[in-house]
Amino acid sequence: DVSTTIAGVKFTGCFMNASGALCVTREELLALGRSRAGAIVTKSMTVEPRQGNPSPRYYGFSGGSINSMGLPNLGYRAYAELIPELKRFGKPIIASVAGLVEDDFPVIAEAVNAAGPDLIEVNLSCPNIPGKPQIGYDAEASERLMKRVRKIITVPMGVKLPPYFDPAHHALMGNVIGRCGVDFLNLINSVGNGLVVDPKTETVVIKPKGGFGGLGGTIIKPVALANVRAFWKHFDGRMPIIGTGGVMSGLDAFEHVLCGASAVQVGTLLVEEGVDVFGRLEAEFVACLREKGYHSIADCRGRLKEL
Ligand code: DHB
Repeated sequence: DVSTTIAGVKFTGCFMNASGALCVTREELLALGRSRAGAIVTKSMTVEPRQGNPSPRYYGFSGGSINSMGLPNLGYRAYAELIPELKRFGKPIIASVAGLVEDDFPVIAEAVNAAGPDLIEVNLSCPNIPGKPQIGYDAEASERLMKRVRKIITVPMGVKLPPYFDPAHHALMGNVIGRCGVDFLNLINSVGNGLVVDPKTETVVIKPKGGFGGLGGTIIKPVALANVRAFWKHFDGRMPIIGTGGVMSGLDAFEHVLCGASAVQVGTLLVEEGVDVFGRLEAEFVACLREKGYHSIADCRGRLKEL
């Protein structure tokens, strides 16, 4: 049984796309609808449509991926129109709300909320104003923004966070989130501003930002698991968590669940392999649960043993 519940919303499958991966266009979103994905997550949307950064802007390598897409998306009006159409697939729709400046978020949140997604994920971890850290690395800005959008959003509201690397930051953000009426967390966005070098050509591998970009895939799994675990503990297992980062197999998903995740999202692997991955991951995860004698996600969620 791979079904799960997040903030009261039932998901028939626990695997879904991570925002950004194959979810920009109508065609891509429909393909997710037809696939075995347990939900459809939209690309983070801005007020105006965007082409994004020049290519190459994504690069996959043996250990994972690096990207600096630059928020290519159709603009929130297009996603607000698409959401009712996507509902015919009978699976939850998660709208990812972003913005280039703080004031964009409430505008987008209001229109998209009215379109009737099942959940909204507020992206506190997207690249925005050059020279300023992303919102998720500014606790005061995060609190201000979460409180503003919470007044507008009527469906379950989650926040997508960047990775934190210090327990003091987990505690600080955990306390802030606890004051803002957040219904679920999505952990983690890409590990920001890595640099991949090709020694053969002596060059960077993506064009934007001098080659700097967000890291995903296998190499970030321990960072993702640490963040899932830290927030699971902070909220005593009472905050639903979507685990994102380094899920390449059913066993990776099981590790996320042990740490406290109720569902998992797939970015790098989905970009590399396409929507057929959901069937494979589901089969692997089912086999893993069976082998270990667990009947469901609820059965093993958070039950990581310490030494
Ligand atoms: C992009 C990257 C992110 O990590 C994010 O959260 C939103 C957008 C991008 O480059 O498109």
